[in-house]
Amino acid sequence: MYYSDDVIEEVRSRNDIVDVISGYVKLQRKGSSYFGLCPFHSEKSPSFSVSRDKQMYYCFGCGAGGNVLSFIMEYENFSFPEALKMLADRAGMALPEPEYSAEARRQRDLKESVREINKMAANYFYYMLRSPQGERALQYLMNRGLTEGTIKRFGLGYAGQYSDALYKYLKGKGISDQLLRESGLMQVNEKHGMYDKFWNRVMFPILDVNNKVIGFGGRVMGDGKPKYLNSPETVIFDKSRNLYGLNYARTAKKRYMLVCEGYMDVISMHQAGFTNAVASLGTALTSQHATLLKRYTDEVILTYDSDEAGVRAALRAIPLLKEAGISTKVLHMEPYKDPDEFIKALGTEAFQERIDRAENSFLFEVSVLQKSYDMKDPDSKTRFFQEVAAKIAGLELEIERENYIEAITGRYQISFEGLRRMVMNVLMQGVPARKAPVARQQARPEKDDGIRRSQRLILTWITEYPQLFDTISRYIHPQDFSDELYREVAAMLYAQKEKGAVNPAQIISHFADSEQQRTVAQLFNTEVKLESPKEMEKAVQETIYKVAEQVIAQKSRELDPTDMKGLQELVDAKKRLPEIRRLHISL
Ligand code: UTP
Ligand code: MN
Repeated sequence: MYYSDDVIEEVRSRNDIVDVISGYVKLQRKGSSYFGLCPFHSEKSPSFSVSRDKQMYYCFGCGAGGNVLSFIMEYENFSFPEALKMLADRAGMALPEPEYSAEARRQRDLKESVREINKMAANYFYYMLRSPQGERALQYLMNRGLTEGTIKRFGLGYAGQYSDALYKYLKGKGISDQLLRESGLMQVNEKHGMYDKFWNRVMFPILDVNNKVIGFGGRVMGDGKPKYLNSPETVIFDKSRNLYGLNYARTAKKRYMLVCEGYMDVISMHQAGFTNAVASLGTALTSQHATLLKRYTDEVILTYDSDEAGVRAALRAIPLLKEAGISTKVLHMEPYKDPDEFIKALGTEAFQERIDRAENSFLFEVSVLQKSYDMKDPDSKTRFFQEVAAKIAGLELEIERENYIEAITGRYQISFEGLRRMVMNVLMQGVPARKAPVARQQARPEKDDGIRRSQRLILTWITEYPQLFDTISRYIHPQDFSDELYREVAAMLYAQKEKGAVNPAQIISHFADSEQQRTVAQLFNTEVKLESPKEMEKAVQETIYKVAEQVIAQKSRELDPTDMKGLQELVDAKKRLPEIRRLHISL
């Protein structure tokens, strides 16, 4: 940390979160919280809550959350020190000189330095594109239909024609070889020493959601190979957690996101007004990408290339998105290869039309499946429908199954009743349909989620009803929580309570990573929708019981059978379980 915890806590506590956020979002009081339209995702009815008691915000829609410092960081795209400075100024406080702990400083400095170097490189490439050396590159981009405005908006550049230009430039700025090695911008070999990774290429800077340059893609002008070179992963560049164009797409205020394959596709779509387009960075879509997307949207339209590789990529992406809670559609680009070519050939309106007609991902999967069967051959056709029936049987809800049976009936030659009977057969046999293992896999995290949710409720209640703490802490200990992060947070919360009052907003300050801050905010903002105090009291009791019971179950699974003392403790704990049901809980 740059600043001591005391300093951070003082700045935080001198800036009331409701006052600060009111300056950005119109808030209305509702019960003990304030509500408004979430500034971090697009919505029509308010699900963004701010609590004066907890000094925290949390959005029930997109999961954004944190304390007043995280809010300023997220809203203003500030780094932590910048946010701290702003809030200190606001409270009329002077910040002391920052402190450094050796290891924290090393890591932090390394990241800051690598960020700084990437930014310098972006400026350099940008400048080169407009220099006489960059003429051909600029021409190349213009020939591809990009306007000056677009080139500027995406910060496109050109890596000079010599393989040591950037190296010399950065050395001239006093950057050490060791840092250059970490920057991802250099290559090293024994014969030539260190030299530029990118040269004579058109450069696409990759920005994170906070508009910081974290890496580059570089394209040859023409047909050379490889077509694109990309920065390797570095301390600031994690390909599976960043999406090209997300810095703009996150504020596009559209109901869905367009996910495509290439840099140029993103840029073309944005130029045509589809500013909700993003691409993964020369890699397949990962589940982390899906989680990231889920923060901003519930629906994705895949605009992958129309070739076989694009279809395969879509088939892989669909289940990942589904698992993250995103519903997916697939856009058909035929007869064009990718969005860039499509828009160039047919224009914006035609593309919008394709968006409107994008295909439901389940039906897309079925139509891909169909291609491997010969529908003129009765046996082959039967096998196709058996596959389809198995796939439908894997759907959880009856209504879903009925709807898909109906949709399939409309598309292929089979009657509603006929297909329904096949689906029923699959369900009754319990035949492990293709889909079944997936369905089972999904059931497990759901159960885990139930437990996690109960654990979150426990933490939320401790902050909201401190009088429950004594009861809760008798049965549930910080080390009983299932995730590392939960345990850490619980330990801090319990420690605070034992010393005096809980202070959830301070706990958030302990986590530097915004992903973790969000999760912590969620831990303190889990709700049950119950009206009467009686019902609430019942729910508290049930939840304590459930968590305590689960802890015992977990421990007995892990117990070493020769551990007599452990066994005795378990037996005692189990005996005390019914006590919980008799507790008198009053809120
Ligand atoms: P494509 O080959 O579809 O290129 O690769 P494109 O986006 O249509 O590019 P243009 O229009 O020919 O300029 C899609 C994406 O795959 C990654 C890049 O991220 C690219 O945008 N890729 C492709 C590489 O990383 N390396 C390559 O050699 C090719
Ligand atoms: Mn292309």
